[in-house]
Amino acid sequence: MESSCDETAVAIVWDGRQVLANCIASQIDTHALYGGVVPEIASRMHVEAIDPLLDAALAEAHTTLAAVDAVAVTYGPGLVGALLTGVSWAKSLAYALGVPLVPVNHIEGHVSANYIAHPDLEPPFVCLVASGGHSHILNVTGYGEYRLLGQTNDDAAGEAFDKVARVLDIPYPGGPLLDKLAEEGDDQAYRFPHPHTQGKYDFSFSGLKTAVINQAHNLRQQGVAIDAKNFAASFRRSVVDMLVDKTVAACVDTGATRLAVAGGVAANALLRSELLRRGEKAGLQVFIPPKGLCTDNAAMIGSAGFYALMAGHVAALSLNAVPALRMMNCE
Ligand code: KG4
Ligand code: ZN
Repeated sequence: MESSCDETAVAIVWDGRQVLANCIASQIDTHALYGGVVPEIASRMHVEAIDPLLDAALAEAHTTLAAVDAVAVTYGPGLVGALLTGVSWAKSLAYALGVPLVPVNHIEGHVSANYIAHPDLEPPFVCLVASGGHSHILNVTGYGEYRLLGQTNDDAAGEAFDKVARVLDIPYPGGPLLDKLAEEGDDQAYRFPHPHTQGKYDFSFSGLKTAVINQAHNLRQQGVAIDAKNFAASFRRSVVDMLVDKTVAACVDTGATRLAVAGGVAANALLRSELLRRGEKAGLQVFIPPKGLCTDNAAMIGSAGFYALMAGHVAALSLNAVPALRMMNCE
């Protein structure tokens, strides 16, 4: 069960790898009216969506609740009210069925999307996780075991996409539409700064975002029209180059042979093609999940939950939502 932000999702997963049902109710159309996620509305919409989604998932998987062995749920990071909706629901379901309740970290869920997409993939591998709230480079040393190689010092990559999209009058969530617009643009048309970070594999998107937004305002004040396609393409190029440069360097320096990617921003067309091109050039085997497994879904939570359960991670019914949850077992 996944409800950390603006997608309610219920999936039924077998053995951590096989998805029997993957149902999602997106709230994007509602939040788009406000230009971003309204937490209180998100929580209420999760409550309305959860039960029908469970029915749909059981029907899709041709199974019944009696066959459910465990209930895995995202308990953080995310919006507290949204998380609480899913956590309370999962607790009551696990209690009623008399099965274990498995707590899942949303970021670990994103990483696990790769286990579903690539049945032969096993740790160790390096994973770039880029979403609306997080940008990490992780060394996945085992199931549920990670070493943090790098992370953003400020904004997440998806957040930068969404905020720059806003100055181009692209509706929320801007990332996917900006990506589409960029496909038809010249990525050398505008010049944006390349931010420096202290950590070799760390990112910084806040300075780039501000520079891009300021440039848009300055051009408008001077009466110069912005070519939205070129602007989107140049910004996308800057973000993708930063993500790919650091990730490939982290792989090469740590002697990794396999590279995976996860999170909503992994649906970005240029990021996918550049990771593949530059990763393979560096001798890496590159794993990219289908776009539907990159953005929020519950199948990835089911997969992470399976490996957590195998490792004996079971929550008591006192489990609480942890909005600022960090990666577990992550040095
Ligand atoms: O992983 P996700 O679905 O939710 C979070 O855990 O945050 O990621 C959502 C983020 C949003 O910022 C969205 O704009 C971005 O991923 N995103 C994209 C693309 N598709 C989704 N960013 C760039 N290009 C895309 N194609
Ligand atoms: Zn996510």
